[in-house]
Amino acid sequence: MQNFEFHNPTRILFGKGTTERVGEVCAALGKRVLFVYGGGSIKKNGLYDRVLQSLKKENLEVIELSGIKPNPTLDKVREGVALCQQHQIEVVLAVGGGSVLDSAKIIAAGARYDGDPWDFFSGKAEVPGRIHLVTVLTLAATGSEMNHNAVITNEETKEKLGLSHPHLFPDVSILDPENTFTVPREHTVYGIVDMMAHVFEQYFHKTPETPLQDRLSEGIMKTIIEYTPKVLANPTDYDARATIMWCGTLALNHLIEAGVEGDWSSHDIEHELSAFYDIPHGAGLAIVFPQWMTYVLDEIPGKFAQFAERVWEIPRNGRSDRELGKAGIERTREWFREIGAPVTLREVGIDERYFELMADKATKRGSLGSVKKLTKEDVLAILKMCL
Ligand code: NZQ
Ligand code: ZN
Repeated sequence: MQNFEFHNPTRILFGKGTTERVGEVCAALGKRVLFVYGGGSIKKNGLYDRVLQSLKKENLEVIELSGIKPNPTLDKVREGVALCQQHQIEVVLAVGGGSVLDSAKIIAAGARYDGDPWDFFSGKAEVPGRIHLVTVLTLAATGSEMNHNAVITNEETKEKLGLSHPHLFPDVSILDPENTFTVPREHTVYGIVDMMAHVFEQYFHKTPETPLQDRLSEGIMKTIIEYTPKVLANPTDYDARATIMWCGTLALNHLIEAGVEGDWSSHDIEHELSAFYDIPHGAGLAIVFPQWMTYVLDEIPGKFAQFAERVWEIPRNGRSDRELGKAGIERTREWFREIGAPVTLREVGIDERYFELMADKATKRGSLGSVKKLTKEDVLAILKMCL
């Protein structure tokens, strides 16, 4: 196990009825609130009204920023920063999925910075701090509710970049599983793929002697596999939604990465796909991950065999680590297909036209990953396998 420092300051309010506490939570932090949300799902399902009512009860001044898109864009972040400065906002409140939460994080940080918020991503400036940040999560997927990451797309340069900084942990996140009842089937599936992928990124590594990290990861993966059919069969099954929601948070609050060196190259490759083609992040991951696994299998065959045995419960039957590992990878791909995720680029209408450019961009800052350091040629080979 490697040395590590672990600090996660986000306060979580989990469960039925926690949404109604949003006013009280925000009021404890400031009087002027920027209420950030997406394309309208919260208006359709009534959450918008409930949040506003709770804020009004505390006599808070509320300014709104709506229209955050999936694969959220820099222009909306800039708009949010301008609103914060114009109205002396004290609290940014995000109500939505990862796209809304990530945008709110950068808006809250941008409010404390004189230049353009893209400077944080391009490396021109460090995140200087942020104003207060509260989230109400409506889609179980990214873990953004309890982590210090944000991913924003610059449409002008076709760059989708991630940023991690200690100032980007929310102060408080409200996780009310009932708010995920209305998530459409496809987005439920993409969210589930995303959380599985987060565990993969931190589970497949070369750090020796990490038995607890392994078993924590395996516990999350097995729970996701067990509860996915329940959530898909009955989207309003409270316990199933609650279980999946907490899995998503634990999959990427970086606890399971403490003491190990994660990989993250599949995420980097996927971010190129969603930057160029605006496909859902989870859809891209379902396509890329099994191919990455196949590509790096020989680096850590024992780990892939452990995955097959412990997570998928595939019996060894005299097979080598490599053969057993391969069976685990095949099962993973089959499972993605079974739950309704795409597993080839062709299914989402992507051909090889931009492969060269995407591989180039993905490796612009150096090689990707740690299980196998991927060069541009490796990324190109994996993309071709995804066709
Ligand atoms: O915009 P609205 O109308 O709200 O609709 C959204 C959106 O169309 C809808 N939705 C969300 N909650 C709903 C709902 N519809 C009905 N009922 C509800 N309760 O779902 C659609 C997708 O939402 P989005 O926020 O885009 O999804 P997700 O949470 O998967 O976030 C994806 C973004 O997060 C980034 C991804 O790259 C992508 O940009 N990531 C962020 C990470 C992080 N911060 O740690 C890590 C991840 O690896 C990921 O890269
Ligand atoms: Zn992800």
